[in-house]
Amino acid sequence: MASPRPPAGLIVPIPRTIQSPTDLDNIVQLYKTLRLEGLSVDPASFSSTFEQESQFDYETWQSRVVNPIGRTFVAVGSNGQEQMQVEDIEDNESAVRLLLKGRWLGLITVLGPVLFSEQSDNTSTTLSEKPRLHTAFIKNKRYDISMDAANANFDGAHAAFMIVGLFVLPQARRKGLAGRLIKTSMEYVREEAQRKHANKSSIAIQVAPTNAQAQSLYERLGFYVTDKAIVLTSQRGGEEQVVGLEKEVRIEP
Ligand SMILES: CC(C)(COP(=O)(O)OP(=O)(O)OC[C@H]1O[C@@H](n2cnc3c(N)ncnc32)[C@H](O)[C@@H]1OP(=O)(O)O)[C@@H](O)C(=O)NCCC(=O)NCCS
Repeated sequence: MASPRPPAGLIVPIPRTIQSPTDLDNIVQLYKTLRLEGLSVDPASFSSTFEQESQFDYETWQSRVVNPIGRTFVAVGSNGQEQMQVEDIEDNESAVRLLLKGRWLGLITVLGPVLFSEQSDNTSTTLSEKPRLHTAFIKNKRYDISMDAANANFDGAHAAFMIVGLFVLPQARRKGLAGRLIKTSMEYVREEAQRKHANKSSIAIQVAPTNAQAQSLYERLGFYVTDKAIVLTSQRGGEEQVVGLEKEVRIEP
């Protein structure tokens, strides 16, 4: 019987602390290249634009990469001869080594947690009585995630997370990488919520209404639509609508 094909790449977290300034600069550069590629190849899939982000200075890119209330995971492909194994991701240093050794194929960022109060949602267009998590992150039609969230007390509270920036290079698609990036994000959310002693944790995602492929991928992983038309101030001018999905992540293993 033929042995199963190895998975297409490893999912590697970008450490929050990268000791070597040169390693940090290289990782910031790799992140910037793949993020701008995503904005340029699939502009309709993102609320942000290539025009805006290509103007970011180095500090802005660096704050994306080592964000105290965000965690980015990279799908890294083997760059040739060397085999990369999941077991190699033992600590920050080995993660940095893998990030610098391999080829970056895809990205996902988990933002949060922020405190979510189920009472605070009194807006319209809801499809169900369930809480609409995106209200923890979108205020006055704009994304609004306070840095204070990093120091909030989550003891016994509902910890809300949001997934942003999911992108896989066109040539690496349909190999399960996005599914693995999302599953790794869900595991990270579970661990973070547990570490912070939250009593509930959930993830929100917003998808362009035309992005049926991403929506069906999320739905297959247990996300459900809570809002068909969240209105955002568009970076392209005017307003745009996105579909809101969410999923509770069980804190107990
Ligand atoms: C949406 C996106 C992230 C999906 O990435 P991906 O790595 O191709 O996703 P997956 O491989 O996990 O799943 C995609 C499809 O491949 C299929 N697939 C997964 N593994 C497979 C394999 N080994 N062989 C064949 N097909 C496979 C999945 O079943 C899924 O099928 P579907 O499209 O019929 O639902 C990618 O298309 C992308 O970057 N798009 C542009 C940006 C974007 O839309 N981001 C989301 C913003 S919310």
